[in-house]
Amino acid sequence: MHVRRASADGGAVVRSTFIDALLGIDCPGQHTPDSIGNPTADLRPTMTWNVFTWLSDIRFWVRSARSDAQLQRFRSQHDNAQSLDLLYEERKDPWGLDSPHFHYQQIKYATMLSLLPRRDYKRALDLGCGLGNLTRRLRNHADQVLGIDVSYVAIAQATREMTDQSNLQFQQGDALNLTRDLDNGFDLIVIADTLYYLSPISDAVLQTVRERVVQLLVPGGILLLVNHFTVNFDPGSRWTPKIHRVFRSAPDLTTLHESRRPFYLASVFEKSL
Ligand SMILES: C[S@@+](CC[C@H](N)C(=O)[O-])C[C@H]1O[C@@H](n2cnc3c(N)ncnc32)[C@H](O)[C@@H]1O
Repeated sequence: MHVRRASADGGAVVRSTFIDALLGIDCPGQHTPDSIGNPTADLRPTMTWNVFTWLSDIRFWVRSARSDAQLQRFRSQHDNAQSLDLLYEERKDPWGLDSPHFHYQQIKYATMLSLLPRRDYKRALDLGCGLGNLTRRLRNHADQVLGIDVSYVAIAQATREMTDQSNLQFQQGDALNLTRDLDNGFDLIVIADTLYYLSPISDAVLQTVRERVVQLLVPGGILLLVNHFTVNFDPGSRWTPKIHRVFRSAPDLTTLHESRRPFYLASVFEKSL
């Protein structure tokens, strides 16, 4: 089933329930693994597994919530990039993404990447790469991988953790001000849990970012968009359905896949040829 049709009202994703999210239920008619040739069922956690993971990972959620609160405090006195730098300096791994002990995040990375259409990607971009946990995994999918993050501190840390991975590169950059030399440069872009951290954020800002991201993709290129989503408990979740809607409505993007998982939305788009 073609997702663009299934989600034409733009609201299907929004109508989630906490129970659905907890149980890992996809939006009806919106999960299209066959259309992109990757069976994802193996990676989808079972209900029992979800509940236990959620309980054992409780420190992960507490850490994330605390970091978000601290980021808000920093933002009251500093701009976005400085606030994120201060956060990374103070907390090293603010969202617990670098810790193998938090199973939820590791499963999430694996599931996200399983949604990618199987292709030989030449050049991938991880926008909002943070400490580079997902960027490093992308090396298994693309010949060259670039991670960009607005935080100099995160980029410095990600670069330090590089061994001799010559196909991996990190650079500081702002999703709101991406340089022109990146245009038409990527056949794969991944943006995970980044856009709801934009500051300022508004419909207009999201549309501008969307237009820039489309310009960075080569024709036929793939965009994987993932954003945390519960039930509007937190500011991130309040923006997530809107972010996905903005990308879904891009004239140059076709939605290949869209699903709701515990506790995030995932969309795969393809740029027109
Ligand atoms: C929750 S982390 C996600 C990191 C990574 N995408 C992952 O999933 O492992 C959010 C990241 O978005 C970055 N970020 C926030 N605003 C940004 C912007 N305007 N441009 C680039 N990165 C940004 C933050 O510095 C932070 O590293």
